This record gives sequence, structure tokens and C-alpha cells, in this order.
Amino acid sequence: MSLLIKNGEIITADSRYFADIFCEDETITRIDRNLAAPAGCEVIDARGHYVFPGFIDPHVHIYLPFMGTFSKDTYETGSKAAIVGGTTTLIEMCCPARSDDALASFDLWMKQAVGKSACDFTFHMGVTKFDDTTEQQLREIVARGISSFKIFLAYKGAFGIDDTELYRTLKLARELGVIVTAHCENETLVSERCKELLAAGKTDPAQHHESRPPRVEAEGVHHLMTFAELTGTATYIVHLSCQEALDEAIAARRRGVRVGIETLIQYLTLDKTYAEKPDFEGAKYIMSPPLRDARNQSMLWNGLRDGLIQTVATDHAPFDFENQKPMGKDDFTKIPNGIPSLEERVNLLYTHGVKTGKIDLHTFVNIASTQAAKLFGLFPRKGTIQPGADADLVIFDPNHRGTISAKTQSMNVDYSAFEGWPIEGRASVVTIRGQIAAQHGRFCGTFGRGKFLRRTPSHF
Ligand code: URP
Ligand code: ZN
Ligand code: ZN
Repeated sequence: MSLLIKNGEIITADSRYFADIFCEDETITRIDRNLAAPAGCEVIDARGHYVFPGFIDPHVHIYLPFMGTFSKDTYETGSKAAIVGGTTTLIEMCCPARSDDALASFDLWMKQAVGKSACDFTFHMGVTKFDDTTEQQLREIVARGISSFKIFLAYKGAFGIDDTELYRTLKLARELGVIVTAHCENETLVSERCKELLAAGKTDPAQHHESRPPRVEAEGVHHLMTFAELTGTATYIVHLSCQEALDEAIAARRRGVRVGIETLIQYLTLDKTYAEKPDFEGAKYIMSPPLRDARNQSMLWNGLRDGLIQTVATDHAPFDFENQKPMGKDDFTKIPNGIPSLEERVNLLYTHGVKTGKIDLHTFVNIASTQAAKLFGLFPRKGTIQPGADADLVIFDPNHRGTISAKTQSMNVDYSAFEGWPIEGRASVVTIRGQIAAQHGRFCGTFGRGKFLRRTPSHF
């Protein structure tokens, strides 16, 4: 099986040139001008299009038992939505409840994806408790090809760990060369403020951001950074939303703490006024950390442009507006947290970042693909275009104009947080390891073809 992509403009994190790309089986084998197609080779004319490395979403939830319900996507619907939107690799959070066994949970999450996903995938292993058994099982999970952990400083009683567990998890990660990704919010402040708001009769979705203001997140980051500094562990702050939290992370980085920073497409494009929409519509926009004051957006864009922030993810966590978000109709603390956006991340980042001049094309590729590959042990197999890399490619039509709507989306959720928003440009052809998986924006991939990506720890 071979595939030749002709006449496209190849854009990577650090190069831009016109050339043809020849893929044999699953791999890019030649990049040159005027390549001829051998007999039987499939040819795509990419004239007038950019050719990007497949995009990587380093923070998604596909299978997520959470807040008394389950997120809506499966690996079929989730990987289809990812591919249609130009994302070719998913890194999912494996999130056991505290009462669950780590190894059994890892197997359970694998079972959701293997034989079902149309794109490649791996996991950040959630450490939601730490004891001797968990430690042994984490060692086994790393031996099976996982090189990143996930911890929560929030969600007391569900996923959250205490400081002893945090310290021991970081020590183990340091020993194993594993990077620790972390949800940073001070859980005591969150739970006390929630109680106060509810006691005052403040129950609507707009109270969510009142319960967890920027300082709550900044305190979480500060806390993690202190522990990371004393253990020397490589860390990665997921879904950073605000100036106060960024200041804490950058201050730690100046002290020598190893920390990558992720923000989300939602924080770059939405602000807290969406969560204030009347008649419970704000529930569509409830996630944690919450959407912030709009002043944070330019700071996040600048942070991406200047390299202070490494990645843009989605934290995709889809819950229906009709029958799941209303679990918190009379109590905002019970609204399942999450704003689905897996399908739209790349298009929104291009439309609101590249087209407005906030970031250039190389930064776009870097923050949506290359940096995630580098941080999480997938580079150069993923995240770039070069001989030897997996043939995960996005042939992107910059002239496409479209409109986002829940009616046309592949994500298995009944609303779009971006309903009616115009889009400039889109992935028109997407390949997964040399096979065309989307064409003209339509899915044509193969469920079950996605592979688990074994990774080796590298953060020593
Ligand atoms: O609101 C969010 N972020 N939902 C998903 C779970 C998490 O915290 O990542
Ligand atoms: Zn989180
Ligand atoms: Zn998450």
C-alpha cells in the first residue's frame, strides 16, 4: 500500500516548503520535489493546501465515569470526531475512582479503545490513591508502555489525592522518568466556597466560577510547584486558564522546576459570560477550572506565541445538555463538568489564532501537535513530517468556510458550545498511518485500526 501527496505546502513546527510526500504502508519514506507515483499508488493532489503533521490532543476524556454519570463519547464516536477535526492521536486520562484498582482500571480503559479507535491513542495513568499495591501496579503500568501520570488536586473524594500521596507519586515518577500531569485547584477552597454559595441560595451555573476564582487555581499550581521542586519531578499543568496560575508556574520554572503548561481552546475563545447565560444555558459552559474573565485570553495567546505555554488541548468531556447537565439544575456543584470540543480544536485554533495573526503557522503546529509529541514520548514518530515518521497527515484547505453546529458534528453530544460560529479553513484529507481516514471533511477511516502507542519514560 502506498500513498503520494503531491504539490502541498509542508508546514512543521520549524520548516515550510513545497514538496511531495511518499508513504509506504504506515510510514513516510520520501519527501522530495516531483516524486513519481509507482504503479498502484494512491495519489492526492494537495495543491493550494497546507500539509500539517497529524494533530495531537494531549488531554481528552472518552470513557469517563464522573459526577454520577458517564461522558457520552465512545472510542468510535470520539476517534471519528477527532479525525474529522484533524486530530490523529488522542492522549486520554485514565481516571480510576479512589476505590478502584489501578491495574484493573488501566485494563478497563484499554478495553474501551483497543479494537474500536480509528486513530492512535495512549493514556496518562491517573493516580487517584497511592499505597503499596498502587505503587507496584504503577510500575507494571509503566512497563506496559505508559510514561505519564495524571493527578488531581481537586475533586475531593473522587479523584483527588492528599499531600502524602502527592509526594509519593512524584517521587515514584521521578525514579521512573515519568512526567506527572496535574489538575491544579485547591480543593479545600473549592469545597468551602461551594458550601457558602449554596447556603446563601446561590445555586445557578454562574456560581461555578465564583466558587473557584483564579487564586484557587494559582494556589493549586503553587502547591504542585513546591512539591515538584523538592522531588525534582517533571510536571505538566493541564488546563491552565488564567494569569495568576501562569505567574506561579513561570516563577517555578525560573527556579528550575521542570514544568510544561497546557491551556485549552475553550479558554482561548470563550469567557465566563457564557456560563452566565440565563435559563440554565450557562450549564453548557461549566468546566473546571472555569471559564475566566476575557482579559485572560490575550495573555494566553501571548503565552503560546512566546513559548511560555507549550500546548493547546481540549479536555474533551462531553455531557448532554438535555439530560445530563440538568443533574445540577438546583445545585451548580452537581452539573457534570466539561465542554466538548475535540472536533473543533484545530479549526478554532486556526480561525482564532492563525487567521487573526495571534500565532503563526509554525506555532500552530507546535502547540497543537509537536510539543505534545515531545513532552509525552511520541516524537518523532508523531508530531512532525519526516522520513521514518508515521504517515499521520492533515491536508488542510485554508479557503474552506464553514459554520459549527451540533447538527453536523460527529461528537456524540447534543449541543455545541460554539453553535453558529464561523470557521475559516479545515482538514480536508486526514491520513492515519498511511490510510485516508477523512476526505472532504467526511470520515472514511477504519474503526479498530487505531493502535495503542507504547511509550518509554524519558524525563530523568
Ligand atoms: O471540567 C472538566 N475539566 N472536566 C473534565 C475533568 C477534568 O477536570 O479534567
Ligand atoms: Zn481537570
Ligand atoms: Zn480532564
